[in-house]
Amino acid sequence: PTQAEQLVLPSRSSTGKVAILTLNRPKALNALSSPLFAQLNQELEKADSDDEVRAIVVTGGEKVFAAGADIKEMKDKEFSEVYKADFLGDWSNITKIRKPIIGAVAGYALGGGCELALMTDILICTPNATFSQPEITLGIIPGGGGTQRLAGLIGKARAMDLVLTGRRISGTEAAQWGIASRVVEEGESVVEAAVKVGETIAGFGRIAVQAGKEAVNAGLELPLEQGLKAERRLFQQLFATQDQKEGMAAFAEKRKAAWTDK
Ligand code: CAA
Repeated sequence: PTQAEQLVLPSRSSTGKVAILTLNRPKALNALSSPLFAQLNQELEKADSDDEVRAIVVTGGEKVFAAGADIKEMKDKEFSEVYKADFLGDWSNITKIRKPIIGAVAGYALGGGCELALMTDILICTPNATFSQPEITLGIIPGGGGTQRLAGLIGKARAMDLVLTGRRISGTEAAQWGIASRVVEEGESVVEAAVKVGETIAGFGRIAVQAGKEAVNAGLELPLEQGLKAERRLFQQLFATQDQKEGMAAFAEKRKAAWTDK
C-alpha cells in the first residue's frame, strides 16, 4: 500500500526482536475499518512468520488506541450482507498468532478498540486510558468478542455493567479488574513499557514461550481436567527440546542459558 493507505505502521524495536504495529488512522480516531483490520491481520501474520521477531506490540496513538469498529462503514449495512460475509469474522484471526502479542493502550479503547485490546495476550495501559463497550448506545452489542471475553475475565456483573450501560472505566480500574496486567506511571511511554516486556520474552527460548501461550489459552476454552492434561502434555513435550536441557544445565552450572529454539 502507498503511504496514504498504510493504516497499520510496522516497525521494530532497536534489537529487531519486537515487532511494533501502530494503528494509523488518526483522522478517524483509529476506527477499525475492514481495510485496517485486513492490514493488521496481514502484519500480524508477517511478524508471526518472521524468525527474527519474538514478540509483537500492538498500539495506537497517545490519545486514542482505537475508537471502535468504523461506524460510518457499518451504518448502512444490511443483515443479509453482514451475515453472508461473516462481518467481523476475520477479527478472530488474531487468536491464531503463536507469538505473544502485547497490547499498549493509551487513550480511548472503545467498542472494537476495547475488544482488540482484550484479544492481546498481555495488556499494558496508561492510568487514564478509557475502556468502554459503547455499542448499546448505537443500537447494537459488541461483536468482536467483548461479551464473551469480558465475562470470562471480569465476571458476569462487571461484564453486564459495561455491556448494558456503556460506562467507561479508566486504565487504573481496568488493571484493578484484571483486564490489564500493568499500568505505566503517568507520563511514562506505554509503548516503551510494552517493548520492554517484549524484550524480556525475547530473551527466553521460543518453544517454551509458544507452549506457555498455548497452555494458558487451552485453559480458557477447556474444562479444568482437560486443561490440566493439555498443560501437562506440553510440559512433558518440552523435555524433548534442547532448550530444556540447556536451561537446566545453565542453572546447574550457574551461567546464562544459550537458547537454540530447538
Ligand atoms: N467510526 C467511525 N468514525 C469515527 C469513530 C468510529 N468508531 N470514532 C470517531 N470517528 C470519527 C468521527 O466521526 C470524526 O470524524 P469527522 O471528523 O469526519 O467528523 C473523527 O473521528 C473525530 O471524532 P470526534 O469528533 O467524535 O472526536 P471527539 O474527541 O469529540 O470524541 C470519541 C471522541 C468519544 C471517541 C467519539 O469519537 C466516539 O464516541 N466515537 C465512537 C465510539 C464508539 O461508539 N465505538 C463503538 C463502535 S461500534 C463497535 O466497535 C462494534 C464492535 O463491537 C466491533
